[in-house]
Amino acid sequence: MATRIRPLQRRPHARGPEPRTFAAAALAALVLGLLPLAAVAAPPFGAGSQDALRTGGPQAALILDLWRLLLAVCGVVFAAVMAAFGVALWRARRGTRDTPPELQGPLRGEPRSARLVAAATGASAVGLCGLIVASVLTDRALARLPLSNALHVELTAHQWWWQARYDDADPSRTFETANELHLPAGRPVLLTLHADDVIHSFWVPNLSGKKDLIPGRTATLALRADVPGRYRGQCAEFCGLQHAGMALEVVVEPDAAYAAWAERQRRPAEPPTDPQAQRGQRLFLAGTCAMCHAIQGTDAAARRAPDLTHLAGRARLAAGTVPNGRAQLAAWIADPAAFKPGTNMPGHRYAPEDLDALVAYLETLR
Ligand code: CUA
Repeated sequence: MATRIRPLQRRPHARGPEPRTFAAAALAALVLGLLPLAAVAAPPFGAGSQDALRTGGPQAALILDLWRLLLAVCGVVFAAVMAAFGVALWRARRGTRDTPPELQGPLRGEPRSARLVAAATGASAVGLCGLIVASVLTDRALARLPLSNALHVELTAHQWWWQARYDDADPSRTFETANELHLPAGRPVLLTLHADDVIHSFWVPNLSGKKDLIPGRTATLALRADVPGRYRGQCAEFCGLQHAGMALEVVVEPDAAYAAWAERQRRPAEPPTDPQAQRGQRLFLAGTCAMCHAIQGTDAAARRAPDLTHLAGRARLAAGTVPNGRAQLAAWIADPAAFKPGTNMPGHRYAPEDLDALVAYLETLR
């Protein structure tokens, strides 16, 4: 009785791939497959969290759901492709000096393989269409955030800091701050986004998706932060040398705490009482500081750089680059480029006692 010879066995020297080739391919597949886990293994939720997987509000939660769906679908597809790749490698016929290369078309005379490829192509198309539908539905859901009683904040991006103006129906109650947003928990926020120089992008991953800030255009972004905490935002569009040094601190706090903070921001700076701080104020107003910065309640009213009226109340300096403290503030004023090369703020050569006085004054700006 004649046994049917499988094509695999028809050639001389036909066998599986070299074990080394197979091991290398399997290792590469494993490493690639484990990459997404690096994103999942996030640090615990804490101060200044910057993590799209730890959502602080409904907008970020919708985006996270979509991300999980994409990860699951793409993970299954990746595993299937790698499995097919492994099987193909394992069953491949190896050529030798005696076996000429096979020159006929890849699938000719192999109807089963052709059917498999057609089925996989169809499944990919269906899967991609499903993901498009999921993306559109997520986009619609993002747009449905109710905005009655929303807080309005106008955010302007500069190289390399954020200017925030809190609007109010009563113009005398608007106020300005920089690099640190405080938001009331549970209340929707409508951000109006502008750019002063180049394209930047607003991104606080715990709270919402990205939105570009484009010079000459106005964009809006609606979000709601439900979970009190500190979240770190980061400019997400390359905008020059200090793109990475353009962070934004977002403090989400209960309504009463937010109201108290906003009330404090609306007040002008208190005149300093301590003689050293008074000297510092004179230095500030008479020197170059006042040519770029504003301090409400004084003659300093320039708008080229962050408003410093309540500087001492902010957690960090220079758009998230330096922790706010006496020593850091002095070092920053003396040589900003040491912390943030390319920054527009020039270094200042003050005598040590002058620098101390200036910092003492800035420390009173609570
Ligand atoms: Cu601003 Cu990148």
